[in-house]
Amino acid sequence: MDRDENRKPNKPIYLFPILILFLAVSFTIITRTNLCRIYLLKSTFLHRPNFFQSLSKFLHSNPNPNPIPKQNEIAEPNYCVLWMAPFLSGGGYSSEAWSYILALNSHNKKQKNPFFKLSIDHHGDQENVEFWEGLPQEMRDLAIELHNTECRLNQTVVVCHSEPGGWYPPLFQTHPCPPAGYGLFKVVVGRTMFETDRVNSEHVNRCNKMDYVWVPTDFHVDTFTQSGVDPTKIRKIVQPVDSDFFDPFRVDPMDLDPLGSLVLGSKGSDSRKPFVFLSVFKWEYRKGWDVLLRAYLKEYSSGDDVALYLLTNAYHSENDFSNNIVDFVESSDMEKPSDGWAKIYVIDQHVPQVDLPRLYLAADAFVLPTRGEGWGRPIVEAMAMSLPVIATNWSGPTEYLTEENSYPIPIVGVSEVEQGPFKGHLWAEPCVDQLRILMRRVVMNRDEARAKGAKARLDMVRRFSPEIVAEGIIDHLQGIVDVFH
Ligand SMILES: *[C@@H]1O[C@H](CO)[C@@H](O)[C@H](O)[C@H]1NC(C)=O
Ligand SMILES: *[C@@H]1O[C@H](CO)[C@@H](O)[C@H](O)[C@H]1NC(C)=O
Repeated sequence: MDRDENRKPNKPIYLFPILILFLAVSFTIITRTNLCRIYLLKSTFLHRPNFFQSLSKFLHSNPNPNPIPKQNEIAEPNYCVLWMAPFLSGGGYSSEAWSYILALNSHNKKQKNPFFKLSIDHHGDQENVEFWEGLPQEMRDLAIELHNTECRLNQTVVVCHSEPGGWYPPLFQTHPCPPAGYGLFKVVVGRTMFETDRVNSEHVNRCNKMDYVWVPTDFHVDTFTQSGVDPTKIRKIVQPVDSDFFDPFRVDPMDLDPLGSLVLGSKGSDSRKPFVFLSVFKWEYRKGWDVLLRAYLKEYSSGDDVALYLLTNAYHSENDFSNNIVDFVESSDMEKPSDGWAKIYVIDQHVPQVDLPRLYLAADAFVLPTRGEGWGRPIVEAMAMSLPVIATNWSGPTEYLTEENSYPIPIVGVSEVEQGPFKGHLWAEPCVDQLRILMRRVVMNRDEARAKGAKARLDMVRRFSPEIVAEGIIDHLQGIVDVFH
């Protein structure tokens, strides 16, 4: 059945770019690139006549009239939003920032009198030439256009969308944000989030230098407040999910057969399509892949008509996922069922962003027993695709998981983060036994699963579609500039 036939996708401009971007972002292997090409990138993007130049002219001019060049300046709109983020890096903040920019740009294009001009600058992370070169031309054009949009300092809302260590003065080498410290701009906003139960004190101090701190969920409103961020500065600004791109009626499911390598279990001769669980994550402990394997392999065996597909990519250098899985299973206390292990496939090849909706659609359920998420983008993408999702009811996802639209996994408690920058913080331990129950229930009770999936899409469209999120941001910005008038 070709579901595309009756429905001409009526996609706003940002859709195409957003899709390419996300994959590029999520599944690009970030490689070190040679300096010459980096330099080229910097000279095409970073060193164009831009905001920094008007800023430095402003800073170095004598207090004479017209410190800012007049050319290109249009009286309308009055305000400017300068969004500074790792636009050229790929990675989580990069794709998030692009999703906001594309939503805001598309919204602006539809307005007769946009409330603000939009400008962007790269900040917060190394540029990645492969990432930039992998972007579609219209997206690069947009980046350059927005980058070259000039703003008056006193009419600019600067959004620093990055890890607070990059905020002025930065703890590592990056364009600082705000570009020349606090006080020159109309308003400065920090946009960040964390995956654990708290914000460390260095980050708290940095947040408190901002006029506003935007976080994506109520979980973060709480953890930031409890950690000492000034509650009058904190605002919840949710993240958009491109529900026109992630639309189950727009695409046909992908054929998973050629995509996954079988890591555990055997295919058998049965040609029926099994019930497919899909999980999408970066290979790191935080994502709870150990919990997922344990629950799935304890609940199911070879005789069950199910398969688990893992779309994963490397975190740091570890990328031999198949061996990791086999090693984990062999060194665990799990006993091989008499009829053999249930099937697990790993998809470790690049799935182009344009194919992601088709990948989700090939699954019957999405599962991610994560220990902590800022937002949980694959979860909301799966929900926009009307999949029933099973995901941990803790941290970012509590913003959108409900009993009606998903299968929230209860947690058994919190545990201490043992390594990395958040060592000593707490995150959640999802309950393996509850996950087993939910992974059984979604297979046994298809009508319920379908109903939850349908509700999931409704909720995603209603709350997180780009237009809705853009409107929310603009309302908030209007409020901000009024307050700071
Ligand atoms: C910004 O500064 C310019 C002069 O530098 C002034 O004409 C304008 O009114 C100021 N705008 C705001 C919003 O303060
Ligand atoms: C999810 O957790 C929240 C507390 O963080 C709780 O209020 C809610 O009832 C939980 N939802 C489910 C479905 O367990």
